[in-house]
Amino acid sequence: MADDLAHHFRDDFLWGAASAAHQVEGGNRNNDWWEWEQLPGKVKNGDRSGDACEHYLRYQKDFELFRQMGHNAHRLSIEWSRVFPEPEVVDGKAVAHYREVLETMHRLKLTPLVSLHHFTNPLWLSRRGGWEDEAAIEAFRQFAELCAREYGDLVRIWTTFNEPNVYAYQSYILGYWPPEKRDFSAGVRVMRHMARAHAAAYHELKRGPHGSSATVGIAQHMRVFQPWRPWSLLDRAGAALPEAGFNHWFLRVCTQGRARFPPGLRGRIPEAAGTLDYIGLNYYSRDMVAFSPTSPQNLFSRTFARPGSEVSDYAMEIYPQGIRYLLVDLAERYGVPIYITENGVADRTDALRPRALVSHLAESARAVRQGVDLRGYLHWSAMDNFEWAEGYGMRFGLIEVDFKTQERKPRPSAALYSRLIRQNGLLWSDLQEYYPRALPYFVGSSQARVRRPE
Ligand code: FCB
Repeated sequence: MADDLAHHFRDDFLWGAASAAHQVEGGNRNNDWWEWEQLPGKVKNGDRSGDACEHYLRYQKDFELFRQMGHNAHRLSIEWSRVFPEPEVVDGKAVAHYREVLETMHRLKLTPLVSLHHFTNPLWLSRRGGWEDEAAIEAFRQFAELCAREYGDLVRIWTTFNEPNVYAYQSYILGYWPPEKRDFSAGVRVMRHMARAHAAAYHELKRGPHGSSATVGIAQHMRVFQPWRPWSLLDRAGAALPEAGFNHWFLRVCTQGRARFPPGLRGRIPEAAGTLDYIGLNYYSRDMVAFSPTSPQNLFSRTFARPGSEVSDYAMEIYPQGIRYLLVDLAERYGVPIYITENGVADRTDALRPRALVSHLAESARAVRQGVDLRGYLHWSAMDNFEWAEGYGMRFGLIEVDFKTQERKPRPSAALYSRLIRQNGLLWSDLQEYYPRALPYFVGSSQARVRRPE
């Protein structure tokens, strides 16, 4: 079979899927999302997270299924509001639960990648001002300290924050998510507090009893922002601003301790310098960006999928080349190892997912051949789940979930993914069938072209 491989990934490559506590566990009543979901009109179709996938109860069976599918890793988050139901009050049962979860993963040989924050906040935190309040930093440090102590022997790869940029943007700038603020300066304050909280958590996770072997980073949502009219200075500026502010601000601050661009986000957070051991890339799509004088809240630009492009159920363009562009760019700018911590497609009928899977892996393989140090791929998501304000309509799972019966039914793409994992790479025939345009790039030896930073 080896002769038929167009590309194989490194032998210790991590393969699996990603999830977040609130989207799969069910019964997370003590956080800000739960409270918000109960309000009429907030989540599409009146959906609520409710029992979600009942993963809090069914995790063992779920992990067994992922293992049968060949996965050797899984990304999950620990729900802060379960572990700390009140400020400085630890729920021993919840702590023990996550220990069992992680031990089960070890038994099944699923390497855990664990996030501490994936959008939800304990109610007590949100009631006292959430991330706008500086006190959130100390509370998060305590949570990280507890996780390092309780789980440090079971977890090597930690993610402090999932998509801090998306969180600040959706919750504080656009105001689509709780606490529904529309205030740019509040968004900036939240980003700064999260960067400082990341730094504090980083040191806790490294200091813990098993800290020396820990690798700590963030999972950053990145999009390709492309000027709609490349000749237009305004469209180009419109694309450059989110590129700097949304894609890179957090990463720059957590590597260099300061950011010079964009205006409004300039500044120093010295304690955050050197606190990214790896970068987690969450990649979904490209946005075309056009100047729009009527969109001040969006920095005077309008973003949209390129007309005529293939789009997911979420109306996002499926643009596999973007993952290579971002991987190479990240490697050149920051020079740390990378995991793809999310990549996937909302696709109820599984018509797009097989091609999306192969094409994004092929473009990732091209990045590796250009010298990117890519360590793993975690597909979003293992199972259909509660897709935030979109509710249960968006189906991202390799496995279909019937939310009435909790039946799990792997989609055809789950079997394809299992085969790719077994091969640890891509066959020529996979490229031929799903992504022939990439074929020429795999002929001949690879060329390491990435210029790492000094
Ligand atoms: C990412 C989130 C994840 C999921 C996917 C579709 O932005 O991190 O929780 O909602 O999008």
